[in-house]
Amino acid sequence: TIAPVILSGGSGTRLWPVSTGDAPKQFQPLAGESSMFRQTLARAADRSRFAAPIIVCGRAHVRHVEADLAAAGIGDARILVEPAARNTAPAIALAALAVTPDAIMLVMPADHVMTDVPAFLAAIDAVLPAVEAGALATFGIAPSHPETGYGYIAAGDPLPGNPYVHAVRRFVEKPAREKAEAMLAEDGHYWNAGIFLMRADRFLQELDRQQPSIAKACAEAMNGAEQKDGQVHPAPEAFLASPADSIDYAVMEGAENVVVTPVDPGWSDVGGWAALHELGEKDAAGNVVIGQVLSIDAEGNYLRVDAGKRLAVVGISGLVVVAHGNDIVIVPRDRAQDVKKIVESLSNPD
Ligand code: GDD
Ligand code: MG
Repeated sequence: TIAPVILSGGSGTRLWPVSTGDAPKQFQPLAGESSMFRQTLARAADRSRFAAPIIVCGRAHVRHVEADLAAAGIGDARILVEPAARNTAPAIALAALAVTPDAIMLVMPADHVMTDVPAFLAAIDAVLPAVEAGALATFGIAPSHPETGYGYIAAGDPLPGNPYVHAVRRFVEKPAREKAEAMLAEDGHYWNAGIFLMRADRFLQELDRQQPSIAKACAEAMNGAEQKDGQVHPAPEAFLASPADSIDYAVMEGAENVVVTPVDPGWSDVGGWAALHELGEKDAAGNVVIGQVLSIDAEGNYLRVDAGKRLAVVGISGLVVVAHGNDIVIVPRDRAQDVKKIVESLSNPD
């Protein structure tokens, strides 16, 4: 079986004020009825395919993880608690060291949306034999614009006897604008979905070869790990000695035997309010409305208000208006990314 490894360390500042450091976006019902973390659990809940999930998160988020696991009726998850965030390469290394060497890990971010889970599971089935044989598998999303916040994958020839899975010629994490445009113009380029399927020993082998200091720090941290209240706490001093880096830069760009399976699972990484407008169900005027909203002559807006409150808008278009708790944010949809600047200025007032 496959061990789901769910990364839940991010803080999601672009979805402020609903997403905050204490209660980040993956634990909020932002896209659909349940939180994105629960939707991620559900994607890999079929126990005929998947083992109990492993969650890697920071201390501040353990209570949210436990509440969501309980709500999902999952009693056998393992929670690995990072003493501090060191980005995804160390987080995945902790999980790889917690399973048997030949275990296959399905690494998934906790904050993505997928509308076609069967398509995703079919892509996993297609690539599984290659992964068992040692490949590091990525999932390729057809790119629509020169996004610079994603990894890009240049696909090569299909594997012999496996038309769905391609060898990877190059993995480029977060390219500069020009490079992203050039790759978009060429055939056979995909966005990296940020989801990986790989044997634990193969990941650790690549980490050891390319980033020995991360590998060493994480191995020491897990050797000295303590079990408390059903959680695994890696030794803080050892873990804090690890450099911070993402799997994409630290491992994937330089790894051998990387493959990509192109897939269209209705994927979104919910990068901001504009993405939620895109994903949401629109009224006749193209507004996405969450909560009790009165609108006149308003079109193409994302309008959200907490239960028990009322939002009224007249004559506005292309805006995001979100009222949550004591905070209200109003921003043009095409500038919604800049909400993160507000959060930065809130946390570093000068
Ligand atoms: N446990 C833990 N610890 N989780 C973490 C940490 C950490 O230190 N840092 C990040 N994460 C989690 C985030 O919560 C998110 O779910 C996931 O790991 C990916 O991290 P991001 O910081 O969101 O990465 P990104 O969006 O910049 O880039 C990645 O995802 C893109 C697709 O969304 C890369 O894999 C790109 O190549 C990819 O295109
Ligand atoms: Mg992300």
